[in-house]
Amino acid sequence: MPVADDIAREELRALSSQGLQRQLEPLRAAQGVEIELRPGERLINFSSNDYLGLAGDSRVAQALAEGARKWGSGASASRLVVGDFEPHHGLEAAVAKLEGAEAALLFGSGYAANSGMFGAFVQQGDLIVSDELNHASIIDGCKLSRARIEVYPHSDVEAAAKLLKLPARRRLLVTDAIFSMDGDRAPLRELARICAASEAMLAVDEAHSSGVAGPRGAGLCAELDVASDLRLTTLSKAFGVFGAAVSGTRAVRELLLNRARSLVFATGLPPALACAALEALRISSSPEGDERRASLRHNIRQFAAGLRKLGFEAREESAIFPVILGTPERAVEAAARLRSSGILAKAIRPPTVAQGTSRLRFALSAKHTAAHVDAALNALRQIC
Ligand SMILES: Cc1ncc(COP(=O)(O)O)c(C=O)c1O
Repeated sequence: MPVADDIAREELRALSSQGLQRQLEPLRAAQGVEIELRPGERLINFSSNDYLGLAGDSRVAQALAEGARKWGSGASASRLVVGDFEPHHGLEAAVAKLEGAEAALLFGSGYAANSGMFGAFVQQGDLIVSDELNHASIIDGCKLSRARIEVYPHSDVEAAAKLLKLPARRRLLVTDAIFSMDGDRAPLRELARICAASEAMLAVDEAHSSGVAGPRGAGLCAELDVASDLRLTTLSKAFGVFGAAVSGTRAVRELLLNRARSLVFATGLPPALACAALEALRISSSPEGDERRASLRHNIRQFAAGLRKLGFEAREESAIFPVILGTPERAVEAAARLRSSGILAKAIRPPTVAQGTSRLRFALSAKHTAAHVDAALNALRQIC
């Protein structure tokens, strides 16, 4: 047997004994608020990040199909070689316009953007100050930069301010705008203030606020009128497609283009995906997008009120609601019981969340109806 197979079996046994082994389950049709996993099993889906309900939108799919017919299926080279296409530039201009930034640069994914962007700005001898609940892709990108990393307790502005005073050549503070597993908002105004006081760069990951918060879905920085140095917009969540863009000044874009390794050494985003994302951005920025955000807000209020009635804490800061249960086993069992009532809210376990905080994560969509939200609350009532 090859060595890797032995190692895999040993590691998998360990994962399984801790209740941490995960499995894939393919969807049988397009993404949506009602999905089918096992044949005949209809589920109301609360586990996708499809906040505006655009992942299954026929206009976005049509843009993808037309884009593929015109531009082919793949970029076939790094954008810096011969994988740069007109739709990439059209999409970058649209993201920059939405963000009120001078420029934006596309990456293959949000993960790739976070992996590569920090290293372009900070290296050995520099300092990164990072929230303890930042997304794994931020943590990995910080490590890859080789800067000194200091982690502050979640959303603790005073602690972050102290860390920013540490000696360093350059300083960068990075935070999720909306925390992906807890759904709370970072104190962006206060963080921007301490960054300005320490001449530190501010990087904000808007993965769960792009398309959701702010005017025309421009994100939480836009809603709070916070200026950032680097702002990540993912195209994979509310916009329902794939890829990501980092907004900043023209010089910031130029440096990323030259230095971000996850961009330089990777094939460009398929241009057809850029066509699809452009259509999703068009819809999101139109009055229809505002209607979808209003419907999402309505669902958020309804779900939060219902959770409170059941005795759970519930903030209304985003479309993400954790129901914390503690051990992985409890979370997995609760998810299975919900599923038998037709509700899909997947269990989230370490390492995605800290030990002892395994949970169900509910993510709402503009496409959920009042009946969907009620069904989730009823199912939760039965398992509490
Ligand atoms: C906060 C945050 N940043 C970045 C990412 C990565 O984005 P993508 O899924 O587009 O790679 C995610 C999603 O998983 C996320 O939740």
